[in-house]
Amino acid sequence: MRTIAFVTQKGGSGKSTLASSIAVAAAEAGERVFIIDMDPQQSLVKWAKERGKTDVAVETVSPGKLKAVLAALEKKGVTVAVIDTPAGETPAGEAAVRLADLTIIPARPNAFDLWSSEATRRLIRSLRRDYAFLLNQCPPAQQSARIDEGVTALEAMGGLLSPPVSARVDYQEATRLGLGVTEFAPTGTAAQEIRKLWSSLRRRMARGAAGQRRAA
Ligand SMILES: Nc1ncnc2c1ncn2[C@@H]1O[C@H](COP(=O)(O)OP(=O)(O)O)[C@@H](O)[C@H]1O
Ligand SMILES: [Mg+2]
Repeated sequence: MRTIAFVTQKGGSGKSTLASSIAVAAAEAGERVFIIDMDPQQSLVKWAKERGKTDVAVETVSPGKLKAVLAALEKKGVTVAVIDTPAGETPAGEAAVRLADLTIIPARPNAFDLWSSEATRRLIRSLRRDYAFLLNQCPPAQQSARIDEGVTALEAMGGLLSPPVSARVDYQEATRLGLGVTEFAPTGTAAQEIRKLWSSLRRRMARGAAGQRRAA
C-alpha cells in the first residue's frame, strides 16, 4: 500500500479538492483507494455523503489512531491511502507526514501560499520524510510570470510535481457533486491533468518503493 498525504499550513490551497480527484483517478486506474479525512471540517466525509457510492471509502481518523488504521487498511488489501489534513501546524498534519510515503504540499502561485509552503517544507524535512510540491489553481494561460515565479520558487525548495493544476470550474463542480473531475467531465482539460498527475505520482512512488527495497 502506498500512502499519500496532502499537507500545508495554508487553508484554501486545494488539499481536499486535489485529494478527492486524485483518489478517484487512482480508483479508475484500478487501485483500491481509501481516503482518511483528518480535518475537523470534514470536507471529504461530506463529499463522500454527496457521492453516495462505496467505491472510494472515506473515514475520519484521529492522529493517535492513524498508524493502526493504515496497518489495518493494508491488511484489508487497500493499495492507495489518501490522507487529507487541516490547515495550520496540527497533530493531524504531523502524524500524516510521519506515516505517509509521500506528502504533497499544494500551493497556489501567490506569495502567501509560497511562504506557507516553506514553513510546511521545514516541518517535513525536520521529520526526514519525502515530499513534493504541487502548484494548484494556476491561471489556464500557463505562461504567466506568476506561474514561472511559482515554479522557480518551488523547484528551488525541492521536488515539484507535474503537471501543475489549473484553476477550473470543473474542480468546484465535481466536489460539489461528490465526484472527481475525471468523472465530472471525463474528456475535459482538468480530467486530463489529474490523470497525468496520478500517473506521475504512481511512477514516483514505485521508484520510492524500489529504493526502499534496495536499502532494506
Ligand atoms: N484547481 C482548482 N480550480 C478551481 N477551484 C479550485 C481548485 N482547487 C481548489 N479550488 C477551490 O478552492 C477552494 C479551496 O479548496 P480546498 O480543496 O477546500 O482547499 P483546502 O482543503 O486546502 O482548504 C474551494 O472552494 C475549491 O473548490
Ligand atoms: Mg480541506
